[in-house]
Amino acid sequence: MLKDALAHRHSHYGLRPEWVAPRETVEDLIGHVLQTVPSAFNSQPVRMVLLTGEAHTAHWKLVEDALISIMGQEAYEANTAAKIRQAFASGIGTVLFFDVPSVTEGLQASFPAYAANFPLWAQQVQGSHQHAVWMGLDMLGFGASLQHYIGMVDSDIKALAGVDASWVLSAQMPFGAPLAEAEGKEKLPLSETFIVK
Ligand SMILES: Cc1cc2nc3c(=O)[nH]c(=O)nc-3n(C[C@H](O)[C@H](O)[C@H](O)COP(=O)(O)O)c2cc1C
Repeated sequence: MLKDALAHRHSHYGLRPEWVAPRETVEDLIGHVLQTVPSAFNSQPVRMVLLTGEAHTAHWKLVEDALISIMGQEAYEANTAAKIRQAFASGIGTVLFFDVPSVTEGLQASFPAYAANFPLWAQQVQGSHQHAVWMGLDMLGFGASLQHYIGMVDSDIKALAGVDASWVLSAQMPFGAPLAEAEGKEKLPLSETFIVK
């Protein structure tokens, strides 16, 4: 049921490196999301890379090294290391989400009247894909979270992922076996967020 799936997905910040569903099922999920989630003008500006094993570990090492060089080892160990190691690197895989800017540029050239909208729509389409993958991983029994360690070592991450240098890294979704049930967060009352006329 969609309502149950929506309600059960939360951010998981404690992960174990275990395939709670087969890796092939996760690949199938990601492919299905790419084949079904809508995009403006059916433009399909999203690409995903599934990192597992050494590639997953190497990705979080790149992020860790970048954070250490920015924050210094001491501040990193005090503030951030536990999260990187126990919530992200400790998972079984990471989904990388990329945007292909040439798709948006092509749409802007073809439909100048909507030029200002296309970059916004590309971001919205990222969100649709990210939510769908997140919910799908949750339904398979994984815990996951949405991360944005971007703008630090994007070139290295793209080289690791083997993708075109022109793609733009949008988000990372580390996942694995959840260590605990995640609590739902407080939401605004519907009286503030929803109007029926
Ligand atoms: C667009 C977007 C960006 C987010 N960025 C981050 C992030 O960089 N790091 C993080 O830990 N969580 C991030 N989150 C997770 C939200 O904080 C979280 O989904 C929200 O507080 C609701 O909690 P829940 O996921 O447990 O239901 C992001 C969520 C969204 C939708």
